[in-house]
Amino acid sequence: TTTIEIGMLGFGTVGSGVIDRLTRAADQIEQMQGLRLHLAKVAVSHLNAPRQVPLPIGTRLTDSIEAVVTDPQIQVVIEVMGTLKPAEAAITTALRHGKSVVTANKDLIATAGHRLVALAKERSCDLLYEASVAGGIPILRTLADSYATDSIQGVSGIINGTANYILSAMTNGRSYQQALSLAQEAGYAEADPTNDVAGLDATYKLMILSQFAFGQPLTVAQVAPVGITTIDATVCQTAAENGWQIKLLAQAQRHDHQLYCRVAPVAVATGRALSRVDGVQNAVALRSAAVGESCYTGPGAGSTATANSVLNDVIVAAQRLVRGTRGPAFNHNHQHLTVHHLDT
Ligand code: NDP
Ligand code: HSE
Repeated sequence: TTTIEIGMLGFGTVGSGVIDRLTRAADQIEQMQGLRLHLAKVAVSHLNAPRQVPLPIGTRLTDSIEAVVTDPQIQVVIEVMGTLKPAEAAITTALRHGKSVVTANKDLIATAGHRLVALAKERSCDLLYEASVAGGIPILRTLADSYATDSIQGVSGIINGTANYILSAMTNGRSYQQALSLAQEAGYAEADPTNDVAGLDATYKLMILSQFAFGQPLTVAQVAPVGITTIDATVCQTAAENGWQIKLLAQAQRHDHQLYCRVAPVAVATGRALSRVDGVQNAVALRSAAVGESCYTGPGAGSTATANSVLNDVIVAAQRLVRGTRGPAFNHNHQHLTVHHLDT
């Protein structure tokens, strides 16, 4: 058995799930992979805040990010604290210190992923971020591996769990505020839920999906997201009575060298596959030359499902460390498509 030393930044919804999954799956990982994943340190903001799960015996809690990302013993850093600048600085330092990095931070990967991927390549380190898109659905690895030689023409997704939860709850009679509070209590919403309801979180995820599906970077301005803040329970219920479900859809459709994209609330005919994706569920529907139509659904947020994606990335990073085959597993390419906003 090889022991891999791990450091984690953040011990909130996702961090708690990672500790729980790590604890429960430790023996299985050791038996199946020959790896003992040892969580050496966890960094938080508030040392004395109550935690959802106990810290494993032997794991040190610290309020110093530096103490984690520069620790010479630590080989893999998990970033599940969110934020932009502190997280970018932390991941940059970790990569400069030769550590593999696993993150769930879509805001950061969407906006600064090109810098971090370039640094990871330069340092021959792994940078993995499966949990950043669609929580528990392994959509990035599916795109990277299973569609490697296919040509994707379209991606349509429900990729914000909070917004979908709110829309479903309003269709079932809850008010907007009630529904948002429930999503926050369940740990689906961001610390500040503005990005969830404004369509920005879905936009960040579409930007990452576009890299994987088309090798094409997108900007927030190109997507020009419209959120769900102007939609209330009456709109959702009236739509449902007339055979429609309101869904916050993220779409990118390719036509030759043009890519049309948007994030906006759309009325989906009841009965269509995406209309049945309710609550915190996400779905990513693909249209490609070889496979044709396919759709991947599952929990898009939440502690356990998201932590499962994080843990799988940690196992991949650990395996690659042991084999000496590191380097960014997820590549950022540039196809030079012309990007347009998709109008209705
Ligand atoms: P939480 O707000 O629940 O947890 C954030 C954690 O990070 C807290 O433990 C906090 O410490 C710590 N933290 C924040 N800032 C700092 C800092 N500057 N230094 C040290 N520690 C810090 O967030 P989530 O767990 O919900 O989300 C974490 C990340 O995962 C985000 O990037 C989010 O977008 C992403 N994500 C979340 C999903 C979800 O379902 N919640 C799903 C997919 C991705 P303290 O507890 O002491 O305040
Ligand atoms: N706040 C996000 C959502 C978490 O609701 O989808 C998962 O990325």
